[in-house]
Amino acid sequence: MDIIIRANPEDVAAEAYEFVAAALTRKPDLTIGLATGRTPLGLYRLMRESRLDFSTARFFNLDEFAGLGQDHPASFHRYLAEQLLRWINVRSDHVRLLRGDSKDFRIECGGYEQAIRSCGGIDVQILGVGRNGHIGFNEPGSSLGSRTRIKTLEAQSIQEYASLFKSPDQVPRFCLTMGVGTIMEAKSVLLLATGREKADIVQRMIEGPVTAEVPGTALQFHPHGTVVLDEEAAQKLARREYWKWVYQNEWRVGM
Ligand code: GLP
Repeated sequence: MDIIIRANPEDVAAEAYEFVAAALTRKPDLTIGLATGRTPLGLYRLMRESRLDFSTARFFNLDEFAGLGQDHPASFHRYLAEQLLRWINVRSDHVRLLRGDSKDFRIECGGYEQAIRSCGGIDVQILGVGRNGHIGFNEPGSSLGSRTRIKTLEAQSIQEYASLFKSPDQVPRFCLTMGVGTIMEAKSVLLLATGREKADIVQRMIEGPVTAEVPGTALQFHPHGTVVLDEEAAQKLARREYWKWVYQNEWRVGM
């Protein structure tokens, strides 16, 4: 994995934006997997304010609450529309988001995997990481070879989303999520983490043993994984200074 440590969340967003913009320039019909949550908001702001041409790009998303329709204010569908998709020149038939209101989740999840395959796979999968180590909604204990499927949310995940609903008991107990195996098939992954509350899980994810207890550790096996952290999220990395040295001295095309 490439570990990039920047001073603050704004610089993390700028680094992530450069990564996406360079990938889109290399491949205008780029297929991007989107993440939700707090962390990618800065990146999405830069993308929607940019003059990047998304007219041939395609988008998927990592996860969605089971049972929520596309217009529900707490749905990830709504989050992605408002934070990014409605502001950029992407074709509506190039956007395929998991449908939380599908009638048969197994058919939806199987169809989603097929849709990803039919466009040649995801080129750049944007990721955050939960404080419990989940990527997407692959909660601790998820198979590291799992596919898109319905998952039961951990109490911690339900609690973290309670503020989006009128009361905690209205938070969906289930979600649809790309599996760890699905994520690992992306040609490249770009994981963002900021804030001191992520420092412990970032250290376990990057420097700890690969284990289903921390699904994000699967990324240690990804051949093209980039992790962008701010100083707070990186503060518990034992090899923090090493990673900074590598980034400042790594070989780049044209050297
Ligand atoms: C959420 C989402 C993940 C996200 C993670 C971190 O539950 N399912 O896709 O990456 O938890 O969210 P945040 O960036 O808000 O910390």
